[in-house]
Amino acid sequence: MNKTRVLAGMRSSGRLHLGNYLGAAKGMIALQNKNNNECFYMVADLHTMTTPFDKKTIRAQSIDVILDYLAAGLDPNKSTIFIQSEVPEHIELSFYFSTVVSLAKMTHLPTFKEKVRENPDFVSIALVNYPVLMAADILIYKAELVPVGIDQEPHLEVARDIAKKMNGTFGTNFPEPKRFTTKGEYIPSLTGEGKMSKSIEGSYILLTDNYEQIKSRLAKVPTDSGRGNKIPESGGVAVLFKAVEIFEGKEKAEEYKKAYLGKGIQYKNLKENLAKAIYSELKPIQEKRKKLEKNTDYVEQILVSGAQKARTEAQKTISEVRSKLGLNPSGVLS
Ligand code: TYM
Repeated sequence: MNKTRVLAGMRSSGRLHLGNYLGAAKGMIALQNKNNNECFYMVADLHTMTTPFDKKTIRAQSIDVILDYLAAGLDPNKSTIFIQSEVPEHIELSFYFSTVVSLAKMTHLPTFKEKVRENPDFVSIALVNYPVLMAADILIYKAELVPVGIDQEPHLEVARDIAKKMNGTFGTNFPEPKRFTTKGEYIPSLTGEGKMSKSIEGSYILLTDNYEQIKSRLAKVPTDSGRGNKIPESGGVAVLFKAVEIFEGKEKAEEYKKAYLGKGIQYKNLKENLAKAIYSELKPIQEKRKKLEKNTDYVEQILVSGAQKARTEAQKTISEVRSKLGLNPSGVLS
């Protein structure tokens, strides 16, 4: 039976937060643990370079993400784990893809506009090309499933468009990749506005946060009097109810909602119990991470063999595409 290819990645913009974990990593792990899947999981360091970055820390930040991946449950015996820039074929494919994509379409994407708002002073060509490179990441392995949060849907739409255009124009056989969804596909910000994001201070809980840090981050979530005649659908209270549902179960969330409509809620207790529940899920991940941090050779070894395996597959696609585009398939003069 042919296996279903899966690809996912995260930027190397520091350590993972609960949004990355629940929206993406959990899906990555679930797919890895099914026998009929072949999974490629990378750190998208080239995507990190689409906005201002520091050359002194960029590789260390990639390693940080790899450590979080491994600690959370990605298994190098089941998945191919690598750093994107160590498989340069992605860049070559993204160039070929960029020939079938219009500039207007890329600059109208909501994800592009959001990044421009965050970094208005310098909008690079690399940033405009972000979704094209992401399409290359996925399609170079002919991946059909992509475990990512809901915010990445516009990028998957671009990948499907590119696959159709390349197949129609040049006769390639790229699949049209779909998003693999998890129940954490959208984790709201602790500020009560927008999504949890590393670029918004006060919005996130990191996978590496200890109990006291989690407690103090939750303490800042804005609340109300604890009573009302309607369950809030947005804002801090809605965020807390959602987090309770994810970490303490639906029943507990229902219990709080009932209290909210009746005798009222003590947010101090709710937040403390929630902090305990979050920490008890994160503690084993943190313990595993501490062990891995001491074992840098093991981690580097995973990356070397991951990049080798990924490159072998990526080179097959590159040679196919070069040939379909009328170029020398081997890329060198013979
Ligand atoms: P990044 O680093 O922005 O996000 C990594 C993953 O975390 C998910 N995510 C969330 N999910 C739920 N709620 C949130 N608040 C939240 N915040 C982040 C994102 O949806 C994503 O799955 N462009 C990608 C990186 C990438 C990639 C790829 C992904 C590059 N090439 C190829 C898949 C396939 C990104 O968003 O990274």
